[in-house]
Amino acid sequence: MRGLKDKVVIVSGGATLIGAAIARAFVAEGARVTIADIDTRGGGALASELGECSRFIATDVSRDVDIDACVAATLKAFGRIDCLVNVAAAYIDNGPDSPRGDWEKAFAINVFGAAMFLRACRPHMKDGGAVVNFGSTSAGVAQAGRWTYPATKAAVLQLTRSAALDLAADGIRVNAVSPGWTWSGILDQISGGDRDKVNAVAKPFHMLGRIGDPAEVADAVLFLCSDHARFITGTNLAVDGGYAALGPEQALSPITELMS
Ligand SMILES: NC(=O)c1ccc[n+]([C@@H]2O[C@H](COP(=O)([O-])OP(=O)(O)OC[C@H]3O[C@@H](n4cnc5c(N)ncnc54)[C@H](O)[C@@H]3O)[C@@H](O)[C@H]2O)c1
Repeated sequence: MRGLKDKVVIVSGGATLIGAAIARAFVAEGARVTIADIDTRGGGALASELGECSRFIATDVSRDVDIDACVAATLKAFGRIDCLVNVAAAYIDNGPDSPRGDWEKAFAINVFGAAMFLRACRPHMKDGGAVVNFGSTSAGVAQAGRWTYPATKAAVLQLTRSAALDLAADGIRVNAVSPGWTWSGILDQISGGDRDKVNAVAKPFHMLGRIGDPAEVADAVLFLCSDHARFITGTNLAVDGGYAALGPEQALSPITELMS
């Protein structure tokens, strides 16, 4: 993709499947990547795999001191910051039973983490910079037993619009991607590694009849950071196999059913 070679990118939450696919895709385009994550084992292993064009910096996005240290280490290693991809998130959610502490933690990581990372990177980003935040299909619908996570993701989408306006004057674009169900650590864990089972469960509510692959989400992130997206800012790109466009009737034919 045009305009990514030699760019410097920070990927928060870069140690897991989706974040790692993003880091790999940037490196494949000739960019240099800082992986910022609390997962020191996964992050360290990925940085070793990617070699000299990558660094792992242990970073808890709920701590400003960690974010500042990550930005400083990136500038020291690579000399600049062009793109920020805020992937890091926590799925803390007990629905209606969520105590205040869970709300605070979920917002501290998913929303404040993204906002504070952007705040720390902004003075170093120049005209042509790009930020991609992570929303979710969960941001726009009600899901049983889920209160905190969807609220954080809806907040991230509003943060994206607000930031896009105020950073436009600096030539920095801010967008979001909202994945549908995507093969990831949590789905791997819940399904016991059975991707076919996950596809079968997800089929009725994804038009394309399957879950997404981390590499498919990474492609959308790279597009939004590339010169191909130079007139795109403040938007939310659904990478969800048609999840958000599908109504409650799903792919059923209730009218036909009525007539029979
Ligand atoms: N997997 C899906 O189906 C799906 C669907 C919609 C949206 N998303 C979004 O995609 C992104 C990635 O999701 P995932 O399923 O791969 O999540 P995940 O839990 O597997 O990975 C999240 C990453 O963030 C890191 N992280 C957690 N807390 C952190 C903190 N305090 N500081 C720094 N890093 C921290 C984790 O170590 C992990 O590497 C998230 O923003 C999620 O909301 C995922």
